[in-house]
Amino acid sequence: IQPDYNSVSLWAAHYVAAKINQAKPTAQKPFVLGCPTGSTPLGMYKNLIELNKKGLVSFENVVTFNMDEYVGMSKDHPESYFSFMWKNFFGLIDIKKENTNFLNGNVEDLEAECARYEAKIASYGGVDLFMGGVGSDGHIAFNEPGSSLTSRTRLKTLTADTIIANSRFFDNDINKVPKTSLTVGVGTIMDAKEVMILVNGASKARALHQAVEGSINHMWTITALQSHPKGLIICDDAATSEL
Ligand code: GLP
Repeated sequence: IQPDYNSVSLWAAHYVAAKINQAKPTAQKPFVLGCPTGSTPLGMYKNLIELNKKGLVSFENVVTFNMDEYVGMSKDHPESYFSFMWKNFFGLIDIKKENTNFLNGNVEDLEAECARYEAKIASYGGVDLFMGGVGSDGHIAFNEPGSSLTSRTRLKTLTADTIIANSRFFDNDINKVPKTSLTVGVGTIMDAKEVMILVNGASKARALHQAVEGSINHMWTITALQSHPKGLIICDDAATSEL
């Protein structure tokens, strides 16, 4: 528990940098990082960019897998998760383009695309560290309430709550928000060697309460973290108000 958002972001960035450095990744044995979008990780990404600039961490031998992507949205759309990652993180660090992986929500066979993603993750021996945020309804990636806790990468319809929450990125117009997404499953995330979830602000207090004190259940997919041998939550004071 950190006092505020800036401390959460700083703590998380230093933790990720230390993990990468400890692993001493090489081109043959890269460090595999799961990456989230959303407003929560922005501060962590800013700090990681600074650490990279100062030579305190390198992403040269880091391979990334983004958690999710909207379906039917062009890659170049400013709100695609592809654009988000290049604008806020990848474009500002020494990562190799070919080492960044995204789900493509524009292919005809979405099922095959999800299978391709799972196989690519497996080809690296799995994810070393999956980073994530959480929705106020407790969803991780786009694993909305009701998602199976053993789910794999697949197509998910967004809930009305998520569409409303994400409309802030689409001129507050819910009609402009994509209604479906491709997302790694809860099971995909839980297979990572380590999972780190960032939670900040009072609007996430209920989700954090469920995550820590609720029972493991598919209506709050974040609760799956309780069964992970190395699940880590980094939160600010405001998010703890219901603990
Ligand atoms: C979206 C993303 C999630 C993210 C959530 C919360 O639904 N798919 O990965 O955790 O939003 O976003 P924010 O951090 O902006 O609150």
